[in-house]
Amino acid sequence: MPAVIVLGTQWGDEGKGKATDQLGSEVDYVVKFNGGNNAGHTVVVDGEKFALHLLPSGILSKGVTPVIGNGVVIDLQVLFQELEELNERGIDTSRLRISSNAHIIPSYNKVLDGATEKFLGDRKIGTTGRGIGPTYADKMNRVGIRVQDLFDESILRKKVRAALEQKNHLLTTMYGAAKIDPEIIADELLAYAERVRPYVIDSALMLNEALDRGEMVLFEAGQATMLDVDHGTYPFVTSSSATAGGACTGSGIGPTRIDRVIGVAKAYSTRVGEGPYPTELLDEVGEQLRQAGGEFGTTTGRPRRTGWYDAVVARYSSRVNGLTDIVLTKLDVLTGFPQIPVCVAYDVDGVRVEEMPDHQTDFHHAKPIYEYFPGWSEDITKVRSFAELPANARAYVEALEKLSGCRISVIGNGPGREAAIVRHSLI
Ligand code: GDP
Ligand code: IMO
Ligand code: MG
Repeated sequence: MPAVIVLGTQWGDEGKGKATDQLGSEVDYVVKFNGGNNAGHTVVVDGEKFALHLLPSGILSKGVTPVIGNGVVIDLQVLFQELEELNERGIDTSRLRISSNAHIIPSYNKVLDGATEKFLGDRKIGTTGRGIGPTYADKMNRVGIRVQDLFDESILRKKVRAALEQKNHLLTTMYGAAKIDPEIIADELLAYAERVRPYVIDSALMLNEALDRGEMVLFEAGQATMLDVDHGTYPFVTSSSATAGGACTGSGIGPTRIDRVIGVAKAYSTRVGEGPYPTELLDEVGEQLRQAGGEFGTTTGRPRRTGWYDAVVARYSSRVNGLTDIVLTKLDVLTGFPQIPVCVAYDVDGVRVEEMPDHQTDFHHAKPIYEYFPGWSEDITKVRSFAELPANARAYVEALEKLSGCRISVIGNGPGREAAIVRHSLI
């Protein structure tokens, strides 16, 4: 089983970092293929908490080569800050490899991210403010700065000047902001060149050769299906491909090499930022879920919006990603809720709709149609086999499995690396 993808099936923060970390001892490479430091993965190892943003979660596993693929956007300041923090905590980061084709987030794109959100007013996306959207826009617009540009000063300066010609116009005339000096930006970026150089590699070649040797490669997505720029709730999405296809374009691997696609799903749901969310709970039950699940953003600290499990979203995710397995996380958080609703279909303007509406307006109008499942009150955090779970918890998982269009192979019942119930081995 050489190549597996781990991705989010909902709106992010499903526990992808923990799932990746749990497979760490069995894989040789962990590749981040999309997004940047908008991601926030909390991983708990032996009671010690690690919050990763830009680096792949595999960096915490001994012997794993963590890779930042070409589909990622890199804030160089954040990169070295994260590396230093890990080094101070005794984590060896020397194996990290970075694609020479990955794009860099220049500081002006952070300014533009904030300015655009302000300009949009109540139409804002609620971004993380990390410059993600403007950097992917530059990539598509062919005015982006890549890691390899750091090693050719004259090209870098030309590219920064070209990018800023348009942006300075926008900043000064539309956003009333100050002009940015391209030479200062180029100096800022060049200052990192020699520090970055030892990590940089043709990562697509390296990964294909690893697969040829039968080594194990895990592709770890940032964000999630419903935030994917093509398949998510556009425009309330991030700007990258967080779905399974993104693992190929974001790393230079052909789809025929992928053996397994693992979708991580919370046993309820959360969302950060703006955008439609049919099962959202705006009452005290939502607050109860937020508190019980510790649902506060790893990246921005924002309280996450909370709601019940949406099986329409799960079926959609199973479909667009070709999921082979689901890792269902945070089942323990539902302990104590007397009754657990699951959204099985939507009411769209009086019509029952079983699958994700194709038109955005319909999704904005979608009201959840719930089926109700009885809860359980026993502490399940020490349980390590499916049979040991309370009958109602088992029935809940089995119902989700039936409704979600994919088997549930692993159940998470606590934040720690060891807190899992394996029904089907993932590797
Ligand atoms: P990611 O962005 O998908 O990696 O997820 P985050 O790290 O942003 O959010 C998931 C949170 O849930 C983290 O704080 C994890 O430590 C925690 N977590 C993951 N799995 C479980 C679980 O099964 N039970 C509990 N209680 N917490 C979990
Ligand atoms: P992980 O990897 C949850 C959301 C933001 C915003 C939208 C666009 O931890 O699951 P961006 O800064 O990407 O342009 O913001 O996407 N968002 C996330 N929400 N988890 C994430 O990552 C997210 N990354 C971005 O809140 O609504
Ligand atoms: Mg997260």
